[in-house]
Amino acid sequence: MKTPTLPPCTHTPKPYTGPSADEVLAVRKQFLNPAIFHYYKKPIMIVEGKGQWLFDEKGRRYLDGFGGIVTVSVGHCHPHVVAAANAQNEIIQHTTTIYLHPNIALYARDLAAKMPGELKVVYFTNSGSEANDLALLMARACTGNYDLIALRNGYHGGSQSTMGLTSHSTWKFNVPHSFGVQHAMMPDTYRGIYGKDDPEAGRKYADDVKSLIQFGSSGQIAGFIAESIQGVGGSVVFPDGYLKRAYEHVRAAGGVCIADEVQAGFGRTGTHFWGFETQGVIPDIVTMAKGIGNGCPLGAVVTTPQIAKALASRIHFNTFGGNPVVCAQGRAVLEVIEREKLQANSLKIGNYLKAGFNKLAEKHSLIGEVRGLGLMLGVELVKDRKTKEPAKDECAFVFESARDLGLLIGKGGLFGNTLRIKPPMCITQADADFMLEVLDAALTAV
Ligand SMILES: Cc1ncc(COP(=O)(O)O)c(C=O)c1O
Repeated sequence: MKTPTLPPCTHTPKPYTGPSADEVLAVRKQFLNPAIFHYYKKPIMIVEGKGQWLFDEKGRRYLDGFGGIVTVSVGHCHPHVVAAANAQNEIIQHTTTIYLHPNIALYARDLAAKMPGELKVVYFTNSGSEANDLALLMARACTGNYDLIALRNGYHGGSQSTMGLTSHSTWKFNVPHSFGVQHAMMPDTYRGIYGKDDPEAGRKYADDVKSLIQFGSSGQIAGFIAESIQGVGGSVVFPDGYLKRAYEHVRAAGGVCIADEVQAGFGRTGTHFWGFETQGVIPDIVTMAKGIGNGCPLGAVVTTPQIAKALASRIHFNTFGGNPVVCAQGRAVLEVIEREKLQANSLKIGNYLKAGFNKLAEKHSLIGEVRGLGLMLGVELVKDRKTKEPAKDECAFVFESARDLGLLIGKGGLFGNTLRIKPPMCITQADADFMLEVLDAALTAV
């Protein structure tokens, strides 16, 4: 098998003159949070990015198949986005919301215009965790109830309350931060008890939410939160009708429905701008971050005037949330998605990649399932298609080999056996061909 060749790129990275990767690793070990992890046995150091390309300190180029953990939506250092942030940086970086500034107001208007129904009130935060924290506060404040339902295999952030929403132990500490949170069955038609062959799977998984409300709570809940496609959990797409039915149960119990769009939003699913739209629902609260700002610390919560009213009885304030620089950047991201038709590109290249992965599955029995929507894809590896025993070591091998061949992707899922493919939405068909060739070579080498 011939070695895959990277598609051409016209960008030349600047010469790097800083400390070596080994020196950075040593300093990081000495002075940084000891719980942060790094990808790859020999950690990679990325010092420059352009579009879908990343460059290490030696100038080696890689295709970014993971968008900096789904954060770089429109491509690294997109000129329009960089220009918007730079121009704002030169005038004023910070004004608090106690003064008026056009950026926050105009950006809130533009973001609200992308939302359906009554979702027209915007709050800005600095991260996805903070956005989800605020969503929980809203749910509890507006309903007067405490209990929440989240999904097994979900991920909603690293703050105390969002860790409580996350069900698996890797992300949690043995302290009671999940008090008041129950975890419903993960609506996964590959590993769950209702499979793809069951046309009623969506309804049946949603009935578990009803059962938790009836037996696990007092019959009344504050809310329900779910990612529209489970990201960290391995690109798990829910069966048709799941959210619709789950939302009905939640609303009947007085709760509100929260959609976490931190990974699935902003056109990534291809067919729709928001992931929840693929399930035909309108949530009461939507949280977003990551791709919203193409790499800057920006998050948002959008809700209805009625829910916002419940929070208006107290002052609510966020020092950096919605500062002029991130709002300029977020607005520029929306413009680029529209102007460059990146949602349509996500659909086109996402479908092309998915078809390619399915073709690889005919050749490599390691592939248990190919799933996802648009450019939010997952390839789950198993030792045996019948037993579905997770192929964790093989997944790690493919992941390392892909890096050696010039492709950076993600890895995750409940058992760490799913390859996560979520590139910047600007990738091309030639990039997709390269990605498929690399994975073919890596799977062959296992
Ligand atoms: C679905 C989802 N929600 C929330 C978060 C938390 O976002 P942040 O890391 O910006 O706090 C993440 C981060 O990976 C995420 O994937």
